[in-house]
Parts: sequence; C-alpha cells; structure tokens
Amino acid sequence: MITVVSNREPYRIKGKILSRNIGGLVSAFEPLLRKEGGNWVAHGVGLKKNQIIRLNAENGKFVVHRLALRRDEFGGYYYGFSNRVMWPLCHQFIEKCSFIIEYWNYYRKVNRKFADYILKISDEKPVWVQDFHLTLVPKFIRRKKPHQKILFFWHIPWPTPMIFSTLPWRKEVLEGLLSSDLLAFHTRGYVDNFKETVKRIFPESAIGEDMVFHKSHRTHLKAIPIGIDYKNYRNVAQSKMVEKNVEKFRRQFRNCKIIIGVDRLDYTKGILRRLWAIENFFDRYPQWKGKVSFVQIATPSRENVTEYNNLKREIDRTIGRLEGKFATLSWNPIYYFYRRYTTQQLVSFYRLADVALLTPLYDGWNMVASEFVASQIDENGVLILSEFAGCSSFFKEALICNPYDTKGVADAINRALKMPRREKTRRLREMTKKIAEHTVFTWLVKNLQEIEKV
Ligand code: G6P
Repeated sequence: MITVVSNREPYRIKGKILSRNIGGLVSAFEPLLRKEGGNWVAHGVGLKKNQIIRLNAENGKFVVHRLALRRDEFGGYYYGFSNRVMWPLCHQFIEKCSFIIEYWNYYRKVNRKFADYILKISDEKPVWVQDFHLTLVPKFIRRKKPHQKILFFWHIPWPTPMIFSTLPWRKEVLEGLLSSDLLAFHTRGYVDNFKETVKRIFPESAIGEDMVFHKSHRTHLKAIPIGIDYKNYRNVAQSKMVEKNVEKFRRQFRNCKIIIGVDRLDYTKGILRRLWAIENFFDRYPQWKGKVSFVQIATPSRENVTEYNNLKREIDRTIGRLEGKFATLSWNPIYYFYRRYTTQQLVSFYRLADVALLTPLYDGWNMVASEFVASQIDENGVLILSEFAGCSSFFKEALICNPYDTKGVADAINRALKMPRREKTRRLREMTKKIAEHTVFTWLVKNLQEIEKV
C-alpha cells in the first residue's frame, strides 16, 4: 500500500466526524486511497498518544496515522525550523530566518520520529513524502530500508544556491532530500536551482539533465506542476447556491466592480505591496473612485510566529490608513476579511470578482490563480499575476506584473478594468483549457508514473 506522508493531516477530526482539511492534497489522494487503500501519516493535532483511524477502501484499508508530538517538539519543529527557517529561506527572505540550533535539533528529532513510524508500516509500495517539513525523512528511511522506493514532492520554491548556502545545516538537509528516488518540483526553474545548489555544496556529485548521483545513490529530478480538482470547482461555480451568493454580494457591494485578493496571511504573498498598488491606482486613476472596490481575503496562518503577527498589524494599519484617505459615506475602497471561508464561499467571491490581483513576492505555484480561472463560468474575469508565482509561466494569458513595481501593478489594474469583453474571454478560454487538462489528479498520476520508471 502506498504511504503518503505530510505534516498537515488530511482531515479535521471531531469525535467520529471527519471533515477534509481545505487544500488540494486531500482531494487528490482521497479517491486513490479510498479505492486502492494506503496509509497517510501526518501530525495529529492536539494528540497525547498516536491514533490510527481505519477507513474502508474498495481493495483494502485506507489508514490515517495521526502522530502525537509533544508541545515543545511541535513548537521547535513546526513553528521553529519549518516556519522560521525553511519557509523564509526557500522564499528568499533570509533576513527573516532564525538559524537557532534548538529548532534544528527538534526538526531532526521529529523527522526521525516520522521515519521510525513509517518504517514500521510501509511495504514495498512507494513512500511519498510531502514538503519542506520533512526533508530528513528519506535519509532516515533509506538507512534502514535501502530498497524502499521514496518519492518527495517539494511544494515551495527552491531558492538560488547562494541563498540556500546560508543554511548552517545545508548538507544534512540536502542529503536528506537526495536519499529520495524521485524529487519533484513545480517548475523547471526550481529543478535548475536545486541542481546548481547540489553542484555548489557537493561538487563531488555527478549531475545529469534530470538526475543527481551522490554517495552511490541516484535521485531523479522532475518538474511536475500541481493542479486543482477542476470539475469540482466548475460544479461549485455553477451551483444555485453560488449563483444566489453572487447576486446578494453584488447588491451588498453596491454594484461596484470588484478586484479580489485571496491569500494565507503570509509575508511571501505581497499583501502590503498590493495595498500600496491599490493606493497608487486610486491616486492616479481617480475616475475609478466610487466605482471599484478591492476585497482582500486573508486566511489566518501560523499565528504563533512573530513575523506573521507583525505583518498582520501592518496590514491592519495600512488598510485603516487607506480607508481614512479614500472612503466616502457611500463608497468603501477596501473590504478586508481576516477569516477562513468554505470553498463555496470562496468560489462565490471569485465569480463576483472582475479582477483577481494575485501578487506574491515569491510563491511555489499559487493555486488561487487556478481556482479563480475555474470559477469564471461567465468568461468575464481578468487575472493579474505576479511573475514570481510558480504558475506565471503556465498562465501566459494572465496580465503578468512585477509585484515590486507599484506603479506597474496600478497600471495593470486599470488595463484589466478596461479590457474588452472579447479579450477577456479569449484569455480565459486558453487558461481554462490548461487547468482542465492539468488537474491535481493528472499531477498525482504523473508522479506515480515517474516513480515506477526509476
Ligand atoms: C504551503 C505549504 C504547505 C502547507 C500550506 C499551509 O502551501 O507548501 O505544505 O500545508 O502552505 O501552511 P500550514 O503551515 O498551515 O500547513
């Protein structure tokens, strides 16, 4: 049975009720695991003891393994090393990295805990590890089970070799990843950065077009971009409920045109700079005042990390300032929602919006872009997308912008608002075709096909 491993667990569990955690991964793996059976190993939030949940599958059992971590372990491994070292490092924010040895020690300890657990339950089928929280797991497994097939998917950007080299534990992290048989990224650019990093840190290794040979082990490298469950988004967008929501929202927003931003509240997403671009837009294109509103949905995230709290305060302050500067009794320039929404609610916002303004400073892929496109059943929305989002080379038909160029982003907004209907439809059709072909399910199949080949 395949073993999927991730930090975040697939379900939220209240007593006997399981509800899917929002995000692409569960929707991708669930059909496979419910059919063929398999294991999913993840951190079980709030547990004192490991818990195993057995779900029925057509050909076996789908078993969810919820690993208990002590509070200090979780703090050091997740809030510490994962989110105050690996995350900022890979998004090229080294000034936000806290290279603290205790974090590293906890990270290593928790990665070992995951690996020891996986060693007990995995069979000859592949172990598929997800993301930057678990880089050492492949090595810990390989030491004890040299023939175990291991696949690793890296969901965030891979930085330039110089940036990665600032990590004091760079060799250990790289060797952890290089113990996988297949290491996949979203884009060719990340694969190339990874290869350059290996070249710099392990000059003795052999590096080919799509593989690295290090210490007698071969790791295949691939770019396999992720997708979304396109049909599901399309169906939700076409549902009566969403239709009703859209009509209601339209009235509530007083028929203004809507520009929307949807992100986890994270410094990589460029929300502050986006707000400056909105200010620049209303300053330089005053004809849109009273006619356009910007809606920012920010999902609370990693709230125990100082950088996230500081950012939240700054966003609150900036929105307050802009409201004070522009608002009138009959018009709101900005609506800000700091909360979690269901897929149905988000799709209602996507459908309502005339423009999606997605301007991350660096982003592994950015699924919101695909979700927005999938929701445009009226073929009437415009996507403005940062060139630093992994998906920008995929969505060539979006209006691509540099999020650091405030004036350029403001100009793109004006262009999007004035774009003729025909052009909007043409661009959207191209993008829709792509996301209908490259879904989260085809992503999964491609990964499994690649691991079969090695
Ligand atoms: C990114 C990461 C995921 C992570 C998600 C949410 O997309 O690549 O691995 O699960 O952010 O972050 P969180 O810390 O809430 O799991």
